[in-house]
Amino acid sequence: MTTTPLPSIAGQSVEALGGPRSIIVRQRRDHERLNELVQRVRAARGEQQDELLTQLCRLVFPHAFAEEAVLFPAARKVLPEGDALSLDIEQEHQEINEVYAAVERSRHGDPGREELLERAFALLDEDVREEEDELLPRLRAALDDRELQRLGLMWEIVRRTSPTRAHPVVSRRPPGQTLSALPLTVLDRSRDNLDRFARAVPGPVSTGPRLVSRALSAVAGAVEHLPPFPRGEHPSTHTPRTDAERG
Ligand SMILES: [Fe+2]
Ligand SMILES: [Fe+2]
Repeated sequence: MTTTPLPSIAGQSVEALGGPRSIIVRQRRDHERLNELVQRVRAARGEQQDELLTQLCRLVFPHAFAEEAVLFPAARKVLPEGDALSLDIEQEHQEINEVYAAVERSRHGDPGREELLERAFALLDEDVREEEDELLPRLRAALDDRELQRLGLMWEIVRRTSPTRAHPVVSRRPPGQTLSALPLTVLDRSRDNLDRFARAVPGPVSTGPRLVSRALSAVAGAVEHLPPFPRGEHPSTHTPRTDAERG
């Protein structure tokens, strides 16, 4: 696809991007936090790395889920190149979900775990560049400040109530994407709390919460396959992953 390049949003002022409540400024703020967290995850090991990875997932997955529900449908509506640009990013999101699901199935010290993490970080970086250098500058050019702020509010509301873990089987597009939000959010956020509790208590006491968290992971794997949730899927973001693979 040939498109005229526009200046990246990376170096532009908050005012030029629609003010602090604009979807573009909210996106950039999260991207900066993401960069910082990736550096901290790289420097950490063991339980401390697990805690930072939980924080990273709580930032990345709701952020991306809200993009798929709010930002990309808006881009498809107002930009002539919106379909191609959003599909490129949805494919990256799909790969991030698949790679991170593999990270979740691995344990510290497993061969290949570090490579999986680095692959996930590289994909996150590509995702940010594509949004800040391609999609968001075009959205800025197409919408006025009020529209960017209205989208910012919708994106923020969805972001705060979205799943916090990798879900490679659900559709990256509505309606399946949106319908899956409620059950997966409840399951993911319950697991986040159980895992955090398990890390905070001594060995034997942590066994129960860890087992319940693993059981909820299996439930989430089964929920992802329910018929409405892959609906709306573009064939290029489809994954034939099975429940057994989620472990
Ligand atoms: Fe983003
Ligand atoms: Fe993204």
